[in-house]
Amino acid sequence: MAPLDAQTVPLDPGAGGVLAAAGLRYRTVDIATSDFVPFIKAANRGFLGEEPNDEQIEGSRERLAGRRLTGIFDATSAEPATPIATVDSWVTDLSLPGRRTIPMWAISGVTVSPTHRRKGVARAMLEGELRAAAGAGIALAGLTVTEATIYGRFGFAPAVSAADWVIDTRRARWVGPAAPGRVHAVDRERLRSELASVHDRARLARPGDVPGWTGLWRRIAGLAPGNDDRKVRGVIYVDESGATRGAMAYTIGEEPADFTRHDLAIAMLVTESEDAYRSLWRFALEHDLVSTVRAPLRSVDEPLRWMIEDQRAATVTVSDHGWLRILDVPAVLTARAYSAPLSLALGITDDLGFAHGVWHLDVDDDGHGTAEPIDAVPDLTMTVRELGSVLLGGVRPATLRAAGRMQGSADAVTALDRSFASVDTPYLSIWY
Ligand SMILES: CC(C)(COP(=O)(O)OP(=O)(O)OC[C@H]1O[C@@H](n2cnc3c(N)ncnc32)[C@H](O)[C@@H]1OP(=O)(O)O)[C@@H](O)C(=O)NCCC(=O)NCCS
Repeated sequence: MAPLDAQTVPLDPGAGGVLAAAGLRYRTVDIATSDFVPFIKAANRGFLGEEPNDEQIEGSRERLAGRRLTGIFDATSAEPATPIATVDSWVTDLSLPGRRTIPMWAISGVTVSPTHRRKGVARAMLEGELRAAAGAGIALAGLTVTEATIYGRFGFAPAVSAADWVIDTRRARWVGPAAPGRVHAVDRERLRSELASVHDRARLARPGDVPGWTGLWRRIAGLAPGNDDRKVRGVIYVDESGATRGAMAYTIGEEPADFTRHDLAIAMLVTESEDAYRSLWRFALEHDLVSTVRAPLRSVDEPLRWMIEDQRAATVTVSDHGWLRILDVPAVLTARAYSAPLSLALGITDDLGFAHGVWHLDVDDDGHGTAEPIDAVPDLTMTVRELGSVLLGGVRPATLRAAGRMQGSADAVTALDRSFASVDTPYLSIWY
C-alpha cells in the first residue's frame, strides 16, 4: 500500500490559533513555486548553514520532494516572505521487530529564527505536527535530533542507538572469514543506485530503519547538486551469482604530517548478506596506506568486533540516534512481532493525551500482539517516552525500571523484557 501523502494532511487548527494569537501566520509552503526559496534559505540559516546558491536550492527541492513543508510567517518582520520557523514532514515506513513495518510521521528541518526564539513557536509547531499526524491516523512520529534536550517534553524518546567506530587498522588485524564473491570499484552514479537498492532490501531486518530518498543517496555518493564531492569513492560486493549484495561509500584523507598515513571515512556501508558485510569491512581495514578507519552511525552490535584480533583497536562511542513518539498505543503494539507470550496492563501517562490510559497487551504463543484500553490497575506504569524507547527492542524495560523510569513488579518487567526482545538489533544508519 502506498504511504499516505503528507501534503494532503491539513495543518492543525489548534497550532494555527496559538500562532495567530501571537501575530504569526501558519501555512504550508509550495515546493514547486518561488515560495520555496525563502523557505529553504530560512531552514539553512536555522541550521547555521551558508546561503544556498541556485543549484543548491534545486538540490534541496529534489531532496524535499513529496514532503509537507510548513512555515510560520511574521508580517511585521523585515523579510515578511521569509518564514521565521520551518518544519518538513512526510509519511514513511518504520521497520519493526519481526520484519514488519508501520507508517511513521517523520519530522525534519525544525528551525526557529534566533529573532523569534523561546516564545513558544517550536512548541506550537511540534504539537501541531503531532496532532496533524494523529488526525491522519498515523500511529507514531519519529525524528533524529541535533540537540537531545528538546524533544522529550513532546513525548519523543531515544529508541535506536548508534555507534561511531574509529579503528586503528595497524592494530586491528582481520581474523574474519573470507567471502567467495568479489569487490568492485564503481563510479559515483553506480554507487548511488547500489546504495539505494541494497539499503531498500536490507532495511526490513533493521528495526528503527526508514527508507532513504533520492537526495540522500545523491549526497552520500558525492553527487548532491551544488555540492559535488569528487573525493567520494565507491565499492560494491558482488556474490558468486553476480548479484550486488553490498555497497560502501567512503573518502580517504591524508594525515598532514605523514603521507603514508591516511584516514578512510566510511560514509555508508550497507549490506544484505554476511559475505558482503565481511568483504566490505575487510576491504576498508586492509586498505593500503590507511591507518585509521572511521565509521559513524553503525549498529550497536556490529559483528565486526569479532572479526578483528584486537578488539581494543576500535574505539566505539554509542549515542542516541532514532527517536520515536507514540500517538496510538493499540496500533503500534499490534504492529510489531514479539518474542514471548505476555498478558499485562500497561499504565501510560502522556501530557499531550495521545497515549494516555491503561492498555492491556496480550501476546499469543506465535508472537502476535493485541492491545486495547482496559479499566484495571496497571501491572507496569511509565510515560509515553519509556514505551517509545522499548518499542523496537533496543532498550530493555529492566534497564528503565532500574533507572527509576518504569514502575511495577520485577516479574512484570521480566515478562515485558522477554516479550519485547528483538532478534534483529535495532539500527538506523541515516539522519533524517
Ligand atoms: C531548537 C529550536 C527549534 C527551539 O525553538 P523555540 O521556538 O525557541 O522553542 P520554544 O520557545 O517553543 O520552546 C519549547 C520548549 O523547548 C525548550 N527549548 C527550546 N530550545 C531548546 C534547546 N536548544 N535546548 C533545550 N531546550 C530547549 C524551551 O525551554 C521550551 O520548554 P518548555 O515549553 O518546557 O518551557 C530553535 O532554537 C532552533 O531553531 N535552533 C536551531 C536549529 C535546531 O537546533 N533545530 C532542532 C533540530 S533537531
